[in-house]
Amino acid sequence: MPNKSRPWVAGDAREFRRRLLRWFRRHGRDLPWRRTRDPYRVAVSEFMLQQTQVSRVEGFYQAFLGRFPTIQHLAEAPPAAVREAWEGLGYYRRAHNLHRLAREVVASRDGVMPHDPAQLRQLPGVGRYTAGAIACFAFERREAAVDTNVARVIRRAFHPRAPRSASGEARLWNTAQLLVPRRGRDAWSFNQAIMELGALICTSRVARCEDCPVSGVCRTGRKRKSVDGKR
Ligand code: ADE
Repeated sequence: MPNKSRPWVAGDAREFRRRLLRWFRRHGRDLPWRRTRDPYRVAVSEFMLQQTQVSRVEGFYQAFLGRFPTIQHLAEAPPAAVREAWEGLGYYRRAHNLHRLAREVVASRDGVMPHDPAQLRQLPGVGRYTAGAIACFAFERREAAVDTNVARVIRRAFHPRAPRSASGEARLWNTAQLLVPRRGRDAWSFNQAIMELGALICTSRVARCEDCPVSGVCRTGRKRKSVDGKR
């Protein structure tokens, strides 16, 4: 059913999803946190990936889990040990919050992480993005997860003129939620894929539209093509 107020929703959204998922199957990186659905391991990766690049996180992630293989191990660890395992990643508040999260989940929830984003957001260090990412990546829930990379992709593709304000942000989240496929496995792949596109192709330095799988259904990509065609 076409949506008159947002005519792109039906057609472009479907095509955007289809092309992005196909590209991700071929080009998505094999990252350690993409091989697990363990909510604790997913949470560790998401805390580490806040403000730190994938290439840096990879080594720290494996070492941290070697040291604290379960949420119980982390909950029982002394703060100094957690800080030491985080050494080199920086932004220690993340380690502190992750430690508090582990203690709280072990003490109040028998070590079981909640599935629901609203409940996840009650946990230390978990904002809207991290709640969506854990719900989707651990539990395959149909939730949007809009970090800086994803916001940039959605802005360029669908809302190039959205204001840099709370209302602009709300629009990006709204579109992200409309884009996420219904099926849990596809929702997982879609959110990983859109992050991957933001990291590898639609980067902050430059939008590599010529290599982009969704440029034909993207406002920025289409505009580039029509400008290039006139040269
Ligand atoms: N940044 C945040 N979450 C990520 C993920 N699952 N894969 C790659 N980069 C990410």
